[in-house]
Amino acid sequence: MHVVTGEDIAELISEAADQVEELVRANPEAVIGIATGSTPEPLYAELTRRAGEGLDLSGLRITCLDEYIGLPAEHPQSYRHYIAEQILEPWGIDPAHTVLPEGDAADPDAAAAAFEDGITGLGGVDLQILGIGPNGHIAFNEPGSPADSRTRVVDLTAETREANSRFFDSIDEVPTQALTQGIGTILESRKAIMLAFGPGKAEAVAAMIDGPVDEAVPASALQDHPALEVFLDAAAASRLVSGDPRSTDAG
Ligand code: PGA
Repeated sequence: MHVVTGEDIAELISEAADQVEELVRANPEAVIGIATGSTPEPLYAELTRRAGEGLDLSGLRITCLDEYIGLPAEHPQSYRHYIAEQILEPWGIDPAHTVLPEGDAADPDAAAAAFEDGITGLGGVDLQILGIGPNGHIAFNEPGSPADSRTRVVDLTAETREANSRFFDSIDEVPTQALTQGIGTILESRKAIMLAFGPGKAEAVAAMIDGPVDEAVPASALQDHPALEVFLDAAAASRLVSGDPRSTDAG
């Protein structure tokens, strides 16, 4: 993993966008895995800005990490809605060129299997965007998720439901389950970019980078990812024992 830290989030976003742009220019039909948290929104906005200046994103294939169970695609908090609004429409991508989990399927286990098969059908993910939860989760792989886990139905922890309740009218409306790519599935992405900003992520980031690979910190499994770039602002990097790792190889 390669860790980049900086004071200026806009600069970090620009550097991450450069890496996406490089891939798109090399392969206009690359498969991009979208993370649907709030952290990567400025990255998507920056890419939308570049699309306005002529960068053609319309040929990309789009998948994502996870989806709430029970929310229909048109629900404002469903990740399919997020992707339609922040990615497909602004980037001009045909919805037929997406593989997204059907969170409101009658049989969620079958939907999880279909999602995993769909990713395989795309030929895998060329570039996965990632966030990290304050509890060290990646996608909805909560603490205790095995490093070889595959796409499946999971229960959300109370902590994650609390963290995500800011997007809902009340915590009672936050779904209790989700479909998520497994950690093993995520590790198969050919390249990954993680963004983590703010003090609320500092502890999870330190455990991911400096701690042992441990199921208690699902993101620590990313120490075994073949090509992961981590972008951290100073607050998110503040608990690292490895010091300022800018342009160093952290593991
Ligand atoms: P956030 O979510 O970007 O909204 O903080 C990250 C996550 O929980 O994985």
